[in-house]
Amino acid sequence: MPDRRRPLVAGNWKMNGLGASLAEIAAIRDGVAAGRAGSAEIVLCPPATLLMAAAELCEGGPIGFGGQDCGVEASGAHTGDISAEMLKDAGAAYVIVGHSERRADHGETDSLVRAKAAAGLRAGLSVILCVGETRAEREAGEAMSKVSGQLAQSLPADVPATRLVIAYEPVWAIGSGVTPTPQDVAAMHGFLRERLEHQLPGKAAIVRILYGGSVKPANAAELLGLPDVDGALVGGASLKATEFLQIAHVYQASEVTSSG
Ligand code: 13P
Repeated sequence: MPDRRRPLVAGNWKMNGLGASLAEIAAIRDGVAAGRAGSAEIVLCPPATLLMAAAELCEGGPIGFGGQDCGVEASGAHTGDISAEMLKDAGAAYVIVGHSERRADHGETDSLVRAKAAAGLRAGLSVILCVGETRAEREAGEAMSKVSGQLAQSLPADVPATRLVIAYEPVWAIGSGVTPTPQDVAAMHGFLRERLEHQLPGKAAIVRILYGGSVKPANAAELLGLPDVDGALVGGASLKATEFLQIAHVYQASEVTSSG
């Protein structure tokens, strides 16, 4: 991995977490401060109800925060929506867009995802754009055409590469305990890098491509050590400080090995 791509380990808490869960965020904060998370950039995406309190709890520290979704407009009559500007105001530096659960549960299309990505950029956030195929699409040999289509349709034309992160999350690997083979993950990430080079000529090497889907301490070293895998988007295992820190710590272990 080129030096300019610092690994990123992001936790997506999804619709989990009450006020009492701030204690887990404090434990992640303390673990990162104690060096237990290695050298990766660490980002947590708690539910919007906890974002401001979590960001305040970690103020001045090394953990960044993100939202899990955003509305398209900056403000206005959109009951229940949360704008990218609001996320930023609450302490976020990132926003996830296009997660497969939003695509499935809320019918989000690529063009809506593109508008949400543009909203995140407008607000000054970095965007974590999720792509991934279903099991049926993989079995039909359509995984690469599916994700390249998602990438082509949901990336805003003028996206700055420095504020773009791609998360490859095969839908069938999310929450299932099943992951693609390391060969399939490496092939997909290499393919995504090629497609990014096509869409953002000369800039693809800057963009971090995360793997997401059943990342656990037991498989993190293998998955995160693959070429073109620049980190992880972690769901279930990010809810437990010890597991999340163990996953992130993979990067410290590999650095120690490579430096001597
Ligand atoms: P799990 O790690 O629980 O499989 O979830 C992955 C995910 O969807 C992260 O966005």
